[in-house]
Amino acid sequence: MRVLSGVQPSGTLHVGNYFGAVRQFVRLQEENECFFFLADLHALTTVQDPVRLRELITDLATGYLALGLDPTKSVVYRQSDLLEVTELSWYLSTVTSMGLLQRCHSFKDKVAQGVVPNHGLFAYPVLMAADILIVKSDLVPVGKDQKQHLEVTRDVVASFHAVYGEDVFVLPKPLILDDVAVVPGVDGRKMSKSYDNAIEIFGPEKPIRKKIMGIVTDSTPVEEPKPTEDNALYHLLKIFAPDETEKAWVESAFAEGGVGYGDMKKRLFEYYLQTFGEARARYDELRSDPAELERILSAGADTARETVAPLMDEVRKVVGIR
Ligand code: ADP
Ligand code: TRP
Repeated sequence: MRVLSGVQPSGTLHVGNYFGAVRQFVRLQEENECFFFLADLHALTTVQDPVRLRELITDLATGYLALGLDPTKSVVYRQSDLLEVTELSWYLSTVTSMGLLQRCHSFKDKVAQGVVPNHGLFAYPVLMAADILIVKSDLVPVGKDQKQHLEVTRDVVASFHAVYGEDVFVLPKPLILDDVAVVPGVDGRKMSKSYDNAIEIFGPEKPIRKKIMGIVTDSTPVEEPKPTEDNALYHLLKIFAPDETEKAWVESAFAEGGVGYGDMKKRLFEYYLQTFGEARARYDELRSDPAELERILSAGADTARETVAPLMDEVRKVVGIR
C-alpha cells in the first residue's frame, strides 16, 4: 500500500502527535511504500514569523527522524520542496465548492476562537487533498481531528472526476486507531499545540515533569477508587503503559484505591522517559548535524518529485493546460 501523512511545523511535537500519528508512521514504513512530509505551507496559515518557522521546520524534521522515521524506508520531505503540490491544489480548488470548505470543523473552530481567517486557512483542506492525491496514497494515518479533511479529499476527488469524466485519482482512506484517536492534554481537552495543554516529546526534562505533575485531577481521596471516565490521567497512563503488566497496574490502581494521583503522575513520568528516552538522546545527536538533515530532506524531495511527475502530466492534460 502507498501511505502518506504529514504534520505541520506549527509547534513542537507532542505526545498526541506521537500516539495519534507518528507512531503509526514508524510502524507502517516496515511494510508499505511511505511518504511522510513536513506540512510547512500549511503552517504558514498560522505561523507568520520566519525565524520561528525555520526553527520549527528543523525541529520537526529532527523529531521525525529521532522517533524512528527511516529515510531508507520512507520518503521524508518538505511540502514546499514539492511545488507540484501547490499547482495541483489550484486545479482541485476550481472543482471544490465553497460550501464544502465552509462546513469544515477545523475552520469553524478557529473562527469561533476569534481567529480572523485568511484565505489560506479556508483553502487548507484543498492543499491537504493535493498532498494526499499527488502521490496516489491509499492510506493516510492521522488522529481523529483530521477525519473530516479526509472526507473532503474524497469529495474533491468525486467532483474532479465528475467534471472531467476521467478517473485520475486514487480514493484514499484514513487510518485512525480508536484507542489513541484523541489523546487528552493535561487539562483534559484534546492535546494540542494551540491549547497550551501539550506534553512535549523533546526539550528539557524539568518543565515536562512539571506539566505531568500538573495534570488536572479531581479530589478523590488516596484510599478510594478513582473515576476513569473523562480522567485525563487515566487515559494517558493507559496510552503510555508499556506492557500488559503495567496496564493491569493502572486498572487496579484506579479500581481499588490506595494509590494517590501524585504517585500515578510519577509513574506516568517514568513511562514517558521509558517511551521517549532513546528518541530524546537521538534528537540531540541529530541536531548537531544540520547538513545531514538537509541532505535527507533534499533527497526525499527528489524522490517525491519523480514519483508525482506522471500523475501531474496526466492531470495537466485532463484539465487542458497541456
Ligand atoms: P495540533 O492539534 O497540536 O496542532 P496537528 O494538527 O499538527 O496537531 O497534528 C499532527 C498529527 O497529530 C495529526 O495526524 C493529528 O491528527 C495528530 N494529533 C494531534 N493532536 C492529537 C491528539 N490529541 N490525539 C491524537 N492525535 C493527535
Ligand atoms: N492537516 C494535518 C494536521 O494538521 C497536516 C497535514 C497536511 C496532513 N497535509 C496532510 C496530514 C496530508 C495527512 C495528509 O495534522
